Amino acid sequence: MKKICVLVSGGGTNLQALIDAEHSGSLQGGKITCVISSNPDAYALERAKNNNISTRIIPRRDYADVAAYTKAVTEALIAEQADLVVYAGFMTILDEQIVRAFPYKMMNVHPALIPSFCGKGFYGLHVHEAALEKGVKLTGATVHFVTEICDGGPIILQKAVPVENGDTPEILQRRVMEQAEWKILPEAVSLFCQDRIEVIDGRAYIK
Ligand code: GAR
Repeated sequence: MKKICVLVSGGGTNLQALIDAEHSGSLQGGKITCVISSNPDAYALERAKNNNISTRIIPRRDYADVAAYTKAVTEALIAEQADLVVYAGFMTILDEQIVRAFPYKMMNVHPALIPSFCGKGFYGLHVHEAALEKGVKLTGATVHFVTEICDGGPIILQKAVPVENGDTPEILQRRVMEQAEWKILPEAVSLFCQDRIEVIDGRAYIK
C-alpha cells in the first residue's frame, strides 16, 4: 500500500475527492496517511480530522525564506515515509530541494489546460479570471508531476470543461472542479499507486 501525503492550503475539496475515492475503493493501492497544511486555518485540516487522517501544520510565515520552508516540508514528508506527495490546492512555492527528494513522486492539480494559464501568478481564482478575460471556449484541469519548473512537469491527465456565457470566475471554478479536478486527481493518484505511470524523455505515459 503506497503512503499518500497531501499538501493543502485552503478549502480542501480536492483532498475530499481523494478521501471519497479511498472510501469507495477506487484509490487502488494507496492510502492517505498525512495531510500537511501551510495555513493553520485551512478547512482542509477539518476534513482530514473528520476522517482520522493525521495532520501537520507548517505555516509559511514561520520560515525566513523558500529554502528554509522547503527543507521543513521535505523533512516532514521523509518522516512520514511518503511514497506519493499530492499538491491539492497547495499555494506555497517550494524550491528544487523537494524535487530532488521526491523525483516524479509528486503530483499537482492545476485548474486549467496546461500550457494555458499556468506558471507564476496563475493559481486559484486568478486562473479562471485569466481564462474569462481571454475568452477561451474550453478550459479544464491538468494533473502533472511536479518538477523544478512551475506547472511544467510531465502531464499525466487532462480534462476539458466548456466556458459558458455569463460565467464568473467563481462559477467557472466550481464547474472545473466538479467536472474535471475531482475526477482526474483521484484517477491519477490511483494510476500512480498501481505503478501504471511511466515517464520517458520528460513525458508521462499511462501503462
Ligand atoms: C483548486 O482549483 C486547485 O486546482 C487550485 O486551487 C484550488 C484549491 O481548491 N490550485 C492551484 O491553483 C495551484 N496552482 P481546494 O482547496 O478546494 O482543493
